[in-house]
Amino acid sequence: MEIRAFEFSRDLVEDLVLLVTEEDLQDYAWPSQEVKTLLLAQGFSGKSGETAACVYVPAGRETPVKAVAGGLGKGEELTLEKVRRAFGSVLKQAEKLKIQALTVLPWASERLAPGDVARALTEAGLLAAYRFERYLGEKKERSLRSLQIGYTPEQEVGVIAGIKLGQALGEATNLARDLVNEPANVMTPARLAAEAQKAGEQYGFSVEVLDKEEIEKLGMVAFLEVGKASVNEPRLIIMRHLGDPGNPEQVLGLVGKGMTFDSGGLSLKQAQGMHTMKYDMAGAAAVIGAMSALSREKVRLNVVAVVAACENLVSGTGYRPGDIIGTMAGKSVMVESTDAEGRLTLADAIHYIITKENASVVVDAATLTGAVIVALGNITTGVITNDSGLYERLQQASQQCGEKVWQLPSFPEYKEQNKTPHADLRNVGGREAGTITAGLFLEEFVQDKPWLHLDIAGTAFASKDGDYLSEGATGAGVRLLYHFAETYL
Ligand code: BES
Ligand code: MN
Ligand code: ZN
Repeated sequence: MEIRAFEFSRDLVEDLVLLVTEEDLQDYAWPSQEVKTLLLAQGFSGKSGETAACVYVPAGRETPVKAVAGGLGKGEELTLEKVRRAFGSVLKQAEKLKIQALTVLPWASERLAPGDVARALTEAGLLAAYRFERYLGEKKERSLRSLQIGYTPEQEVGVIAGIKLGQALGEATNLARDLVNEPANVMTPARLAAEAQKAGEQYGFSVEVLDKEEIEKLGMVAFLEVGKASVNEPRLIIMRHLGDPGNPEQVLGLVGKGMTFDSGGLSLKQAQGMHTMKYDMAGAAAVIGAMSALSREKVRLNVVAVVAACENLVSGTGYRPGDIIGTMAGKSVMVESTDAEGRLTLADAIHYIITKENASVVVDAATLTGAVIVALGNITTGVITNDSGLYERLQQASQQCGEKVWQLPSFPEYKEQNKTPHADLRNVGGREAGTITAGLFLEEFVQDKPWLHLDIAGTAFASKDGDYLSEGATGAGVRLLYHFAETYL
């Protein structure tokens, strides 16, 4: 879909989008009195989620034009996310009406900056248009081809910049969705590495890929143990965007869980639902997407991302429950469950990014626990951190992109659950507080670095269509990590 900025004029020829709050309904500058009458007559009241459409012939014209209105809800509760959702509903309506080109009227509310709104609209437009159809014999035809975002002369600079950023973020999010939706027979560790390399070439960040022998040399033994059962050998993927070379002390380190398939290993998962475990590399997809957007936007910040990509399968060469294994950091771990594999690969990736890539801040994104879905559902990403300042930055980022986050407690008392008499740690903390103990396991490897852990097991995948995100991978974390990085500028 093509999205562009458009200096609004009254004699435009395309179908229109009108986004209106409940309060602004009366004094909103509708395209004409007729449009207002037609939409209000259908009971349109500007409530969130509401849409209404009409056809009219503008004054002095012969061909009819369609107008689709979307409700933004109460003005004082207006957020960028409400704009995205309202626009998503409008786009669904437009699709039903077989509209091919749409123009959004210039933004009129003072509560949100027109540039931010243009970014949100662009993102929602791109995210709503996404479908994973690669393997369909017959692809669904979609009518909407182009989107124009209207601006008044004084809004021009902001709107053009907003569309550009929205495009980078929307496309980066859709890239992550593609990587996650791809099945595990295709998206092997090697393929994931190749995809990272492709994104690096396209957007300008450098990518280094280490194979099994090189990973062995680094001593990433926990990572290797997890991948041992699969013929698809592991890869360590390192992505670097050195946007602020004069400031080498400050390096934002991103770590993504890259389990291209998680069968559970010998601690085998139930058959029902196991197929969804192709999305156990959604954290990796999130950091690849975020790197793409950061480097495409030439953000003045050093960011390094690391993915320890492997596959957790079952075979005679695999690790077993009860094994005591090492880690790159030197701590020993008793493997109580081969299905708690994510924390093992992440422990080594975190140690690597701090000791070898000089990360001064670490953020990891991982589909780490089923427990986070029990706690927070598919709506909110669970967060564990050792630094409240970082969490405040994350909340700022969350407001920018609409990805919801919630911090879980990580009192030291919970650490008891990760203890065993026979090793430094065990990889299962019991059924209780599973998301917290998984997070605290990772904390053992962050040294003194400020760190955030994002458990995206619930948010990375949607089981049904939303307002602007469809069923399947959501690209969770891409925009959140981008805006988080931006807080350092
Ligand atoms: N990849 C899973 C977490 C997961 C579960 C993501 C369900 C999405 C949906 C992870 O590797 C895992 O298996 N975690 C276990 C940990 C347990 C063995 C301590 C879990 O959550 O059951
Ligand atoms: Mn698992
Ligand atoms: Zn897993």
